[in-house]
Amino acid sequence: MKLKFVMSTLMAGAALLAMTHSAYALDEEAAKALAKQNNCLKCHAIEKEKDGPAYKEVAKKYKGKATAEARLIEHITSGEKAKFPDGHEEEHKIVKTSPPKDMAQIKNLVQWILAQ
Ligand code: HEC
Repeated sequence: MKLKFVMSTLMAGAALLAMTHSAYALDEEAAKALAKQNNCLKCHAIEKEKDGPAYKEVAKKYKGKATAEARLIEHITSGEKAKFPDGHEEEHKIVKTSPPKDMAQIKNLVQWILAQ
């Protein structure tokens, strides 16, 4: 009980440090977990094209573009039309977080995609 408290206090401290030290620290595990929970990986893979583009291709397409993050946040939160390889269009999946619309988690996922 006591040890658990000490551990969680330490961990919270470490997280806080990580956040204050750099404006942004990518949490790869959290990004992957969120992608899995949201079934993103049903239509996307990192290397391989599926119904949606490979995240490596997305990262390449947006490399060096200042608007990349904002653009991809819009893409995964607005339900805009997405074109599938067979030509049909449907609204793109909107990412769900817990708590809802958690910008830190959404940004982390987008940064992970852009880092592929
Ligand atoms: C049902 C299949 C499907 C699911 C589920 C899905 N996507 Fe997509 N996604 C697509 C398709 C198709 C496109 C291509 C859209 C286009 O080019 O019009 C796309 C495009 C993208 C792009 C590239 C956008 C761009 O501007 O180039 C990103 C990033 C992306 N999806 C992220 C995600 C994330 C994150 C999730 C999970 C929250 C997700 N997708 C879930 C099918 C899907």
